Amino acid sequence: MQRLPIATAKRSVGDTVRICGFIETVRKHKRMEFLVVADRSGRIQVAREIPAEEAAGEVHARAFAPGDAVDITGRVIANFTVALDGLELVPDSIAVAGPAQHGLPINEMSGREALLDWRYLALREPRNRLVFEVATAVEHAMRLHWHEQDFLELHSPKLMHSASESGAETFSLEYFHLGHAYLAQSPQFYKQMAIAAGFERVFEIGPVFRAEASFTSRHATEFTSVDVELAWIESHEDVMAWEERWIAFVLQQLHSRYSEAVQREFNTAIRVPSLPFPRLTMEEAHQVLSLRKYAMAANTRRGDIDPGGLHELAQYVEETFGSEFYFLTDYPSSLRPFYHMRYTEAPHLTRSFDLMWKGIEITTGAQREHRYAVLQEQAQKAGLSHSVQYYLDFFKYGCPPHGGFGLGLARFVMCLLQLENIRDATFLFRGPRRLTP
Ligand code: 4AD
Ligand code: MG
Repeated sequence: MQRLPIATAKRSVGDTVRICGFIETVRKHKRMEFLVVADRSGRIQVAREIPAEEAAGEVHARAFAPGDAVDITGRVIANFTVALDGLELVPDSIAVAGPAQHGLPINEMSGREALLDWRYLALREPRNRLVFEVATAVEHAMRLHWHEQDFLELHSPKLMHSASESGAETFSLEYFHLGHAYLAQSPQFYKQMAIAAGFERVFEIGPVFRAEASFTSRHATEFTSVDVELAWIESHEDVMAWEERWIAFVLQQLHSRYSEAVQREFNTAIRVPSLPFPRLTMEEAHQVLSLRKYAMAANTRRGDIDPGGLHELAQYVEETFGSEFYFLTDYPSSLRPFYHMRYTEAPHLTRSFDLMWKGIEITTGAQREHRYAVLQEQAQKAGLSHSVQYYLDFFKYGCPPHGGFGLGLARFVMCLLQLENIRDATFLFRGPRRLTP
C-alpha cells in the first residue's frame, strides 16, 4: 500500500491507510496504548488495543519508545474525544523500521548546548521545521527575482590565495607546494571578477568562513552568504535601490504564504516594507544618538556604532519613519575594506552602506573601486598589494563601475522570525567552541 502523508490520511475517515513517521509520545491506559505519530505534514493519534497475552505478560513485546520510526497500516476513525482533530488511527500493523533507544537525551527543559548536541532531535519539532520551510521559501523568492532580471549564478572557489576581507579573520590550511590557502571570507573578489568578465549582474549563495572568536547571538564561524554584484551603477545608491526592491519582493512572497504560520509559531508579523527604506549617513546617525544621549561602549572603534547604538537607531527609525529597515551609509574609510570606493571630495568617507533590520546588520555593501591605479594605492595603504595582485589584475583591462552587497542568510531568517539566536536559524551551527555534530 502506498504511504500517505498524515495530513492527507486524516482526510480519509473510514479508509484503511498507510502512514510513516516518528512516535512522539507513548501513553498506556488499561488495555489501550496511545501513540502520537508525526511526519512532515502533521500528527495523528494511534490507538492500539493491547492483546490479552501481551497484557498478561505471557508474550514479551518490545515496548514502543518515543523516537521510533514506524510504518503503520490501519483505519482512520472519528473520535470526538481525541484532541488531534477528533480523529484517530486504529492499527492493523505497526512495524518499527528504525527503533529508538529508550529515554531521549533532550526534553523541554534542555539548555541550548544540549539541543545543539542533539540537533536532529530538536529539529523534529514542527516549529524548528518551519524555520527551514521559511528559509527555503526565502531563497526561492530571492532566486525568482534574480531570474526575472537576468542575473547569472556563481559558484566561486572557497580555497583562496589571500584574505578577501581582513587578514585577522581567516582560517588557513596547508596547500601542497603552494604553501598556505585561506578559506574564503566572502566571494567578494570573484563576484567582481565576474563583472570584469562582462556578466553585469551576478549572485551567489554559498558558505563563507570567519576565524572570529565572537560569542554573540549573531556570529558564526561558518555561514551562508548571499552575494549580489551589479555593473554600470552610478553610486551605492543604485545598489541600495536594487536591494530594497528585492527585499520587498521576498517579503511579499513570504507574507502571502507564511504570515499565518509565522504569527502562530513565532508570534511575529511578516510586514511587507514600504519603499524607499530610510537612509541615514553615519554622521547623521551619530547626531541622532547624541541627541538621544546614547553613550557608546568604551571599546567601540572610532567612528563606529556599537550594537546598543544600532538598537537605539532602530527605535528612532521606527518612531520617526515607521520602518523596520534602514540603510546606514557613508562609513568612514578606516572602518571599511580597501576595495570600497571613497568619495573623491571626501576620501575619509566610503560610498558604502549597511542595511539594518530590527536593529541588526543584515547586509554590508558598497560601490567598488574599479580604477586600477586607485585600487592599487588603496590596497598598498592597507598593506596588501602583493598578496592581492591577482585580484588587482581583474581591473587592468577595462572594468565598468559596479557595486554590490553581502547578506547573511541566517541573519535574515533570524530577523524575519524574530529568533533570539542565529543558532536557531542555522541547520548546524559552527562557532569557536563548536565543531560537532
Ligand atoms: O559585513 P560583511 O563582512 O561584508 C562582506 O562580506 C562584504 N564582502 C560585503 C560586500 O559586498 N561589501 O558580511 C556580509 C553580511 C553581514 O552583513 C552579516 O549579515 C553576515 O554577512 N555576517 C555574518 N553572519 C553570521 N556570522 C558572522 N560572523 C557574520 N559576519 C557577517
Ligand atoms: Mg558588515
